[in-house]
Amino acid sequence: MAEQKSMHGLWRSRWLFILAATGSAVGLGNIWKFPYIAGENGGGAFVLVYLLCICLIGIPVMIAEVTLGRLGRQSPINTMHALVKDQGAPKFWGGIGWMGAIAGFLILSFYSVIAGWSLAYVIRMAGGVFDGATSDSVGATFGDLLANPEALLGWHTIFMVLTIGIVSRGVNKGLEKAISVLMPMLFLILLLLLGYSMSTEGFGLGINFMFSFDFSKINNESIIVALGHAFFTLSLGMGAIMAYGAYMPQKASVGKTVLMVAGLDTLIAIIAGLVIFPIVFTNGLEAGAGPGLLFQTLPLAFSQMPAGTLFGTLFFLLVAFAALSSAISLAEPVVAWAVESKGMSRVSAATWIGIIIWLLGIGSLLSFNLWAEYTLFGKNFFDVLDFLTANIMLPLGGLLIAVFVGWVMNGKDVQEEVRMESPLMYTVWRFILKFIAPVAVVIVLVNGLIPS
Ligand code: TRP
Repeated sequence: MAEQKSMHGLWRSRWLFILAATGSAVGLGNIWKFPYIAGENGGGAFVLVYLLCICLIGIPVMIAEVTLGRLGRQSPINTMHALVKDQGAPKFWGGIGWMGAIAGFLILSFYSVIAGWSLAYVIRMAGGVFDGATSDSVGATFGDLLANPEALLGWHTIFMVLTIGIVSRGVNKGLEKAISVLMPMLFLILLLLLGYSMSTEGFGLGINFMFSFDFSKINNESIIVALGHAFFTLSLGMGAIMAYGAYMPQKASVGKTVLMVAGLDTLIAIIAGLVIFPIVFTNGLEAGAGPGLLFQTLPLAFSQMPAGTLFGTLFFLLVAFAALSSAISLAEPVVAWAVESKGMSRVSAATWIGIIIWLLGIGSLLSFNLWAEYTLFGKNFFDVLDFLTANIMLPLGGLLIAVFVGWVMNGKDVQEEVRMESPLMYTVWRFILKFIAPVAVVIVLVNGLIPS
């Protein structure tokens, strides 16, 4: 395909792409979701399956997604259209872009609600609500927040306004700078918390929980959750990374860049687990506490450490920022499409899309209180959205991307665009993308979805 230009601008360097992609990857998935689903699925063996999914499926698919984006240089929907035409492929492959857009809407709608919790906790921390906290009192504080739809709506609204505010300003302005300050700070505070958790009695138990592989705790559902999370945490399968790839400078090598992003993302998830589980075991909390795990363990830790109020406030603020740098990558693909194809200005595209997502999010926040009883297969609205997107739509999107790049596209075009330094690495990547990743995703999806 002839070389394309992005109408939305480019990252100023390869480093800024790494930073932006890492900002997208590192978010609530690492700090909030990973520890609680690892807890619910029994720890060790789940962590191992998750790591396997990252290496064998996530990284190869991420390379494919970035490559597609950089070839097309447009929103995922239009990139896929252009590539389908260029490669003479059947039209339905364009569906990758559309399904991704829908997944992005759904994910951001509940993501924003949870990000709202972290904003609420900034205020609670700063106000000293957790001074002298006990495991019962942190549970009660969290329960009170969830029982209050107005409060949840307020925080969800603030978070959506922030997200849309950034997306409507475009790629270069502000965003690149904000991420480059916030991500290192988040990392530092996590390390500080790691230092604290290493000093607790439960540290050994925490390590044991995360790294002792007891396969009796693994079943088809936990494997599908591990696979879904590998996609979720790397922001794969819906076009976010494709959209970011479209703004990547031409010369940069895709492989190395992706390894860096995936490595940082995994490191931060592991550290978050090593912070949270020791605190769980030291304080007699439940590892399988569910979505509230982060919000019940960390306030306890902060209430016990020197200058805990300050660090706690800062920590939840950074969680909210990490969520923000991820949220913008969920909105960007659709906003970019509306700008390209609907002739809308960025501001109005972002605003309309923001309003629709905000409305959807109300369903998720009500499922923690007024709508808690309305369930489907034992899952409330929030759980259904989470399961449907992370565990079905993202792996399916990733599968289609792997097959499209591995089998449908002309191999020469692909090789030219990925620009791997080593021919061996290219061969290995292509082999995994063609054979291992698609087969693994199909097996996991089929096993996980058909009730045994
Ligand atoms: N990866 C982010 C996290 O771990 C969430 C996220 C951002 C995402 N963009 C995405 C998930 C695209 C799936 C698809 O918090």
